[in-house]
Order: sequence, then C-alpha cells, then structure tokens
Amino acid sequence: ENHIVAETSLKGKKVLVTAGPTYESIDPVRFIGNHSTGKMGFDIAEAMADKGAEVILVTGPTHMKNRNTTIKNIKVESAQQMYDVCHQYFDSVDVVVAAAAVADYKPKVVAAQKIKKNESTFTIELEKNPDILASLGERKKQQYLVGFALETENEIEHAKAKIKKKNLDLIVLNSLNDEGAGFGKPTNKVTFIDKDFNIFPQELKSKEAVAEDIVNKIKEHYEI
Ligand code: CTP
Ligand code: CA
Repeated sequence: ENHIVAETSLKGKKVLVTAGPTYESIDPVRFIGNHSTGKMGFDIAEAMADKGAEVILVTGPTHMKNRNTTIKNIKVESAQQMYDVCHQYFDSVDVVVAAAAVADYKPKVVAAQKIKKNESTFTIELEKNPDILASLGERKKQQYLVGFALETENEIEHAKAKIKKKNLDLIVLNSLNDEGAGFGKPTNKVTFIDKDFNIFPQELKSKEAVAEDIVNKIKEHYEI
C-alpha cells in the first residue's frame, strides 16, 4: 500500500549516450583531438540511469568514471569507431543523446610509421568524418533523437538548421556568449529547441543540473 510509482521513471527505456572527444590518428604516436572532458555526457548518462533507464554510454578517450554501475560503457577512440558502435545499438534503443565532441575531420592517410621531421613546414590533408548523428537521423524510427550545438553567432538559426539537417527531436544549444558558460566552467547556460522550433531558454546552472533538465525535457515526450 505504500507503493509510490515514481512519475520520474524512465524504467524500460533504453538510452544511447555519446560523450567525450574523438582521437583521429596521424601516425602510431600522434592524433588530432579536442578538449572535451566528456562531463556533460557522463552527467546525462547518470541522470538517465538514476531514473531507471538502461544506458549505453559510448565514449571517446576520457578519464571520467561512472557512478551508476548499471551503465554499460563502451570505449572507442575515433569517430568511425563511435559511428560503428552507435549503428550497432541503434535499432534497440528508444533515445539517443549525442553529447560527444566528434572531430569533424580526420587525416586522409594514417602513416604506418612515426613521421620524421624534415621540412620547415608540414601539411596534413584532412577528410570529413561521417556525421554520426545525421546518419542516425536518416535511420530514425521510434527513436527520440537529441543533439547538441555549440555556436558563436546566429545561434538560434544555426541550431534550427541542425535540427532539420540531422532529423532531431530536440537540440541543446550551448551559447559561448553567455557569461559563466562553456569550456572548463562548472556552470552552463543552454537553450532547448524542439523539432517544432519552440524555444526554451534555461537558467545558468551547474552542469549536473543542466543534465537533469535535459533528462526531464526528454521525459516529457513520454508523458504526453
Ligand atoms: N555530431 C556527430 N558526428 C559528427 C559531428 C557532430 O554525431 N561527425 C553531433 C554532435 O555530437 C552534436 C551535433 O552533432 O550532438 C552537433 O555537433 P556540432 O559540432 O555542433 O555540429 P556540426 O554538424 O559538426 O557542424 P559545425 O561543427 O560545422 O557547426
Ligand atoms: Ca562539429
């Protein structure tokens, strides 16, 4: 009789989260990477697991650790590897949250041996990586697809274009123009935009609280 069915439950929902940077090899000892710590994606995975969801967390190189032992963490290095894992699990999941900072480009050729220094300048030719989220958008059936956008100008317009291009249900816009938001800061200020282009500006808050807001926003989709 004391049973309380949590309204907050995501029990029975399977969620795929991507997090962290990707590393793109140049030669056996060097790579192209970025400064992503993976914190946002890890916080989202934890918030999802706290609400009972089954979480698959696909991460590029990061030192972050999971608190919830139920989270299945699959570690990758490159964008291509992250792409392969995401497509392997996509059919079976209900929600995808793409929080990874995927390298847009990778070296066209990976040298088999360590590159020796010679000339005074050195050029590496890069080619585009696959857009993981857009490719999932093309395959979308039941899945609720959430992406991120980091913009420095015309933020809303650029974010809306990403919703369309990647067939998203929700985008989380990170604005670098906001005081207290962005890389290396403990806080973040985001704006949610849904697929109908409704705009929901959020308060400046801790990254954990932003993760909680994102999960609650996704949850609304299953409550209507
Ligand atoms: N993303 C992805 N695969 C890529 C690049 C991006 O899955 N190769 C995802 C990111 O995880 C994020 C969203 O797409 O959820 C938007 O990433 P962002 O870098 O803002 O956009 P891009 O499409 O790469 O465009 P640009 O960097 O030119 O703004
Ligand atoms: Ca990009």
